[in-house]
Amino acid sequence: MARNKITIVGAGNVGATTAHIAATKQLGDIVLLDIVEGLAEGKALDIAQAGPIQLSDSNITGTRDWEKTADSDIVIITSGLPRKPGMSRDDLLAKNVRIVKDVSQKIAEYSPDSIIIVVCNPLDAMVYTAAKVTGFAKHKVMGMAGALDSARFSYFLTTELGVSAKDIKCVLMGGHGDDMVPLTRFTYIGGKAVTELLDEDKIAELIERTRKGGIEIVNLLGCSAYYAPAAGAAKMAEAILKNTKTEMSCCAYCDSEYDAGGCFVGIPVILGKNGVEKIIELDLNGSELTQFKKSLAHVKKLTEQVDTLL
Ligand code: LAC
Repeated sequence: MARNKITIVGAGNVGATTAHIAATKQLGDIVLLDIVEGLAEGKALDIAQAGPIQLSDSNITGTRDWEKTADSDIVIITSGLPRKPGMSRDDLLAKNVRIVKDVSQKIAEYSPDSIIIVVCNPLDAMVYTAAKVTGFAKHKVMGMAGALDSARFSYFLTTELGVSAKDIKCVLMGGHGDDMVPLTRFTYIGGKAVTELLDEDKIAELIERTRKGGIEIVNLLGCSAYYAPAAGAAKMAEAILKNTKTEMSCCAYCDSEYDAGGCFVGIPVILGKNGVEKIIELDLNGSELTQFKKSLAHVKKLTEQVDTLL
């Protein structure tokens, strides 16, 4: 049986960590690509040498050469500038559009049948960029944000309630920004909605910390988070490559659903071998829908900016 092939573009913190997790999970053979001489090669060699210890037989190649990425099943785009303290994700738009445009052209050339997972920021606008430049079917281009934002919310709930993360089911919608919408009515812990378990003020505090989860880490580290973003990207790749039909929030193309009017934005979906196989339409109440629309309007503004730059 042919082995899965995963290309990870960008061998910085997020890219290399994603490669390590993908190799540990033995998701397939991995090509790690970066433009900086020696970076992808060195990190790939180090990860490969962890293989015998971790009993992983994933082959991992580091390269600057796009030819080596040919015919990938999945391409994960992590290249792009990360945030520094004092920056919002949106501040990265102009520079990262150029990077994602170049990378997307290469993906269309070398892996025209691949599924793309975008990780760089501003996330929703970068997914739009990759979809527009490649012209790939919309269900084959998506972004990793919901997995990360839901994981942050879940983590804060585990510490607050003293329960296992395995018992928590979170749903989060909207763009990957400060106006993301954690849906508490649809967040369950052992069958009970979180709204039954915590008071409003505590929930509001945890939501605020989730919304600011990225910048909390930027302020501590001086650079963006990478362990949890990489875990999110690897989880999406696993759902697609193993065709698990896993439900998770991710940035996907939303047309008439949620009355979104054609936009890549965070929504709950089913991931399987065809990419985004289904959009889950939750019965949102007035306030939830208002919050989602606000976030959607923000994302649409960014995508309009992308159009002027492409
Ligand atoms: C974060 C960045 C990766 O939320 O967007 O940590």
